[in-house]
Amino acid sequence: MIKLDKVSKKFGNGGIALSEVTLSIDRGEFVFFVGRTGSGKTTLFRLLIREFFPSEGSIIVGDFDLGNLPNYKIPHLRRKVGVVFQNLKLLSDRTIFENIVLPLEVSGFKDRDAHKRTEEIMQELGLSEHRDKFPIQLSGGELQRAAIARALVLSPEILLADEPTGNLDPKTGEEILDLLMDINKKGTTVIMATHNDVMVNKFAKRVISLEKGKIIKDQKKGKYEIS
Ligand SMILES: Nc1ncnc2c1ncn2[C@@H]1O[C@H](COP(=O)(O)OP(=O)(O)OP(=O)(O)O)[C@@H](O)[C@H]1O
Ligand SMILES: [Mg+2]
Repeated sequence: MIKLDKVSKKFGNGGIALSEVTLSIDRGEFVFFVGRTGSGKTTLFRLLIREFFPSEGSIIVGDFDLGNLPNYKIPHLRRKVGVVFQNLKLLSDRTIFENIVLPLEVSGFKDRDAHKRTEEIMQELGLSEHRDKFPIQLSGGELQRAAIARALVLSPEILLADEPTGNLDPKTGEEILDLLMDINKKGTTVIMATHNDVMVNKFAKRVISLEKGKIIKDQKKGKYEIS
């Protein structure tokens, strides 16, 4: 479902964020991306939603060959791939409901259908009581849930979660992980970038370790092993 072949990403300033990354991820997998800060995890996510073009190599996501994907098809790709960004990117001047409904509105859903789906996903993620609050009125864990709800509202086949437990206490972090595992059990492919060694070691899922933009390990029931 996701295939990268010798993907490199260099930036204009000469920095190399990724170097010859080759990997494939099957439908329905749960994968942790680990690696020190600056090792290329977020860059990889941004390549997968075509925020960036690779400098070299090819990227296939489902039926999309991202090297040849015309710009007008990018919204189709982004329906398939939901993202929870490292800094969440919730809009501060919109309520939680308005944030979560937004991808549906942009995709042209009728108001009635969009509202129904938004209420449904908010209920599923325990956000209904926060419906009309603004992001500033929510805790870190609640905000993370809201960002996950927004990423899932279009029912993507793949969910990318970038450091979703970063600023949370251990218990809330575990709740977020349980939520991501549930989403995965229902069939969504989940890729999570993280520094959370406790969670990685607890769940014994596939672990892909990056170091300075290169894959140094790819283990089936992996552990968090960063030197
Ligand atoms: N837009 C950009 N322009 C120039 N350099 C960039 C850009 N984005 C990322 N980089 C560089 O690419 C490298 C990889 O960054 P990236 O954000 O992918 O790391 P990361 O693994 O997500 O780190 P963290 O764990 O801190 O989130 C870093 O050296 C970073 O400075
Ligand atoms: Mg990052």
